Amino acid sequence: MKLTDEEKAMADGRDGPGVQKAMDLLIRYGEALDAERLVETRNVCGMITMSMPVQRSFAERKGGMDAALSEFGLDSSEAVEIPRFRAATHHLQLGFDTNHPELTGADEQSMQFYRKSEVHAAKLGAQLMNTCTPYQVGNVPTRGEHCAWMESSAVIYCNSVLGARTNTEGRESTFAAAITARIPYWGYHLPENRFATHLVELDVDVATTEDWGLLGYFVGETVQDRVPVISSKRGLSRVPNLPRLKHFGAAASSSGGVELYHIAGVTPDAMTVEQALGQKKPVEVIRYGEAERLATYEKINAFGKERDIQFVMLGCPHYSLEQLWEASVLLEGRKVHENCRLWIFTPHAIKALADMNGYTKIIEAAGGVLMTDTCSSVSKSVPPGTRAAAVDSAKQAHYLPAMLGVEAWFGTTAQCIEAACTGRWTGGLQ
Ligand code: F3S
Repeated sequence: MKLTDEEKAMADGRDGPGVQKAMDLLIRYGEALDAERLVETRNVCGMITMSMPVQRSFAERKGGMDAALSEFGLDSSEAVEIPRFRAATHHLQLGFDTNHPELTGADEQSMQFYRKSEVHAAKLGAQLMNTCTPYQVGNVPTRGEHCAWMESSAVIYCNSVLGARTNTEGRESTFAAAITARIPYWGYHLPENRFATHLVELDVDVATTEDWGLLGYFVGETVQDRVPVISSKRGLSRVPNLPRLKHFGAAASSSGGVELYHIAGVTPDAMTVEQALGQKKPVEVIRYGEAERLATYEKINAFGKERDIQFVMLGCPHYSLEQLWEASVLLEGRKVHENCRLWIFTPHAIKALADMNGYTKIIEAAGGVLMTDTCSSVSKSVPPGTRAAAVDSAKQAHYLPAMLGVEAWFGTTAQCIEAACTGRWTGGLQ
């Protein structure tokens, strides 16, 4: 790989062994990808804190936290001193809710280790957002900005809605990027790889959050890891807002591996279909009409059998303030059924706003729990005795049966709240 003089000096050890190890990792990674060079990044989203027993055992060795971070962040069995980060680095979600460790399966020892690692990460310069939606709480990169992000639903939002540039990175590459402010220049950093390959033509209106989740699931399954452009001949009746695009992207990146999409007239690199396609012909033109919509709904709900619901999970991806407001309006004056639990996940920065605006109080008065930092899939936790759950996220409906063996019903937020209050699933395609 071609390195600048500054990068060569970092790789040669000028700035100490931590920077040298990080450069070594990025160079090996970049060469494996055939990247020509590195690119400067000032925006990293990764996993910096630790809580797992295996990580704790490394932190108990000589070198302490640096030994664990060398192993798990830099792929180095030699413990090196970890320097302060050069790039703005945001922490993504965790494996548990720091305010409800008992509900999300974290024991006391893990919590104590996590708290220590949290202090250490903050000292290095990590900003502890603890969410899969950093773009909802202040990390909003600009169009064309080179980023190094993990988390599929965040990556697709960053590339598509914001027009910034990232590949789906891993724990080690984001950690090395935090230290060096560099990432290999390949994949979606290159303008020529950002053009659409597949055209999806809508024959139905796509308006609600449920509609966008369904369409995302269909698109991901159909194009897998290619780049789709969505177009509607008759036009969209409503411009999709943040929650709708968040649900669309999360679904497309879980049923397939989509990391970048365009919506003609909506997303920043696609004022027209032609612009999104780079003036080329699409590899395939795919139609999405009533039949496809219904088939997708049935597929997502294929695991829903039992209509008695023990659990309703909202907030995948983490809920925005607007979604918490909607949920609180639906819940006001009602009670969650005694046989059911309602958990709603949001970033802790948004929870602070929900507290201030009275939404938390309404949710809790109804018997729901407002949770942060994690979700059911990542923490692998659902209330004890859960056999069937209701969700308003196609992504979560995809993961719950596969990861936790729970039946899942997918529907609108209103249908999910109704299920929480009655203990029965009565939803259907609207
Ligand atoms: Fe976020 Fe968990 Fe969904 S990390 S995108 S809420 S699976």
